[in-house]
Amino acid sequence: MADHLPDLDTAVSTALQAVEAALTLDELREAESSVLGKHGVFAAAKKRLASLAPEERAPAGASINAARAAVEAAIGERRAALSTGERAKLLESDRIDLTERRRPEQRGHLHLVTQTQQHLEDVFVAMGFSVEEGPLVETDWHNFQALNIPPAHPARANQDTLYLDFGAPETTLLRTHTSPVQIRTMLSKAPPIYAICPGRVYRKDTPDARHTPAFSQIEGLVVDRGITFGDLAGTIDAFTKAYFGADINARLRPAYFPFTEPSAEFEVTCAICRGDGCRTCSNTGWIELGGCGMVHPAVLRAVGIDPEEWSGFAFGFGIDRCAQVFHTISDMRVMADNDLRFIRQF
Ligand code: DAH
Repeated sequence: MADHLPDLDTAVSTALQAVEAALTLDELREAESSVLGKHGVFAAAKKRLASLAPEERAPAGASINAARAAVEAAIGERRAALSTGERAKLLESDRIDLTERRRPEQRGHLHLVTQTQQHLEDVFVAMGFSVEEGPLVETDWHNFQALNIPPAHPARANQDTLYLDFGAPETTLLRTHTSPVQIRTMLSKAPPIYAICPGRVYRKDTPDARHTPAFSQIEGLVVDRGITFGDLAGTIDAFTKAYFGADINARLRPAYFPFTEPSAEFEVTCAICRGDGCRTCSNTGWIELGGCGMVHPAVLRAVGIDPEEWSGFAFGFGIDRCAQVFHTISDMRVMADNDLRFIRQF
């Protein structure tokens, strides 16, 4: 009574379709339990074996087992295929390409102040100057005394000094200007000297539009035979044209610095208002960059250079201030803020 059994060929082909249709391991598991499970077509067929004539049971049982084995084999194959596929997908989604480069616009670059320092160095190196460096932590002697600023000299009050407490034997401080590098250069080299000394300096200042407590300066020093104030003025003029371009002018105004005599303040046309007067230049049309003058004989004597034989000039100005003028930045505080919206513009 084989007609009591379900049609095994149809059962197998329906089961194979369900197996093929499974797109994930979970779907395959569902198909498997509905076909091969307790309520599946093969379980039902087996139950009916009992109602068959005894001699029909063995061949019917064998064809049920063969049909079931065919479906099991198909499920096994499908499972293998799906699990390699899912593993590949998993690997792909976890993949990190270590050779992948970041997009160029996300790469870092030198800070504006560093770029400006390098630009200034290039201009002076092209004029024949060498680049010298000195320590950020200085002795009182290098920062003040050798520069003709003895203890209790009023000029110390202008440079709000950050003193360090390392104890005896010497007073130490964070250098308030790059001028001590002049001293170190003259102590380590014999004239003729044509040097610039760029670097960071520190002052106990409250930040405002034109001041920050840590900033950068560039110092210049020339010591040779027969150097005059005309050489100083010519050098400042040549530098201003080379760095800022033809539309920015420089002017020197009489000033006082203990380490130079005579001394002058060095100003350039305010690039923000082009000389008309604005908030940044306090309506003068000029921005003060720094100071300069003829090296004081007392300074030459302090480092063992004979002022009768040698003369020289020096200058010192703010690197951040140069960047401010060059790029027309109205507030200096952005230089130290590390705000990427500012940094990325340069
Ligand atoms: N050291 C001075 C300052 O920080 C700037 C300066 C003025 C440097 C005159 C010089 C100079 O070399 O001759 O205010």
